[in-house]
Amino acid sequence: MSAAPATQAAVELHAHASADFAAKLAETEALLRRAAAELGPVTQASSLGAEDVVITHLINRLALDIGVFVLDTGMLHPETLALLAQTQASSRAPVTVYHPVHEAVVQFVGREGKDAMYQSVPLRKACCHIRKVEPLERALAGKKAWITGLRREQSNARAEVPLIDESDVADKGRHKLNPLANWTWGDVWHYIGLHQVPYNPLHDQFFPSIGCAPCTRAISLGEDFRAGRWWWEAELEGGAAKECGLHVKHDHDNHNEPAQGLTA
Ligand code: ADX
Ligand code: SF4
Repeated sequence: MSAAPATQAAVELHAHASADFAAKLAETEALLRRAAAELGPVTQASSLGAEDVVITHLINRLALDIGVFVLDTGMLHPETLALLAQTQASSRAPVTVYHPVHEAVVQFVGREGKDAMYQSVPLRKACCHIRKVEPLERALAGKKAWITGLRREQSNARAEVPLIDESDVADKGRHKLNPLANWTWGDVWHYIGLHQVPYNPLHDQFFPSIGCAPCTRAISLGEDFRAGRWWWEAELEGGAAKECGLHVKHDHDNHNEPAQGLTA
């Protein structure tokens, strides 16, 4: 892989391994190995954020039979698109890009305007549906498991994210795996620094969480990890859950232990 950003400011600022980092890494590697061997076909959802570049690096380093997909909403930052191109060129695992349905985007923008996401939460969610949720359904078609970079530390809404989420097994026959659920932000950057993993340079400019350009800003000292995502919504509707619909919560059992069909 080619070089990581020259400044490495985010690595210098954040890299700090937990005392039990080695055990967490071993748990993550074991989960990825078992998923590839026992579940198949498995795919990784990558936003090209810090967590996701770690997971893609692990998939490549362990030479696992797991593909990677990126939802290109048409609204990503140039820095994210550059990292996508770099990843496609260097990754052993195939990287597939999914786009929204062009006609749906044209109709929505024509009807609601290009700044609709700032007008109301329903319009913002409608944009997310067209640009992210529908393409996600296509990306997951036929897959038995998908891997995300969700971590418990990211927000209150994610505080109980399990390593293995079985809520979609009954109706969709699909596991959702969150192999970094227990990692801290310091662990993520420790791994990036250790392996010189190329990352999005926006992380050097105080963007901890990176989504679409119109809906992501840098955060200030002391602000929440996800304060830069849909930041205006706190004022709009009392801080309604700042999620785009990729990670809708179902009300079934979740486990932190290996699930049926995914045994040690
Ligand atoms: S979001 O729901 O608020 O947009 P977030 O940016 O925190 O999600 O990312 C959480 C996880 O969702 C990522 O680690 C990744 O697995 C998946 N994800 C988010 N955005 C994308 C994307 N554009 N393409 C593929 N996967 C994504
Ligand atoms: Fe649209 Fe913003 Fe959602 Fe991206 S994050 S799909 S631009 S509303």
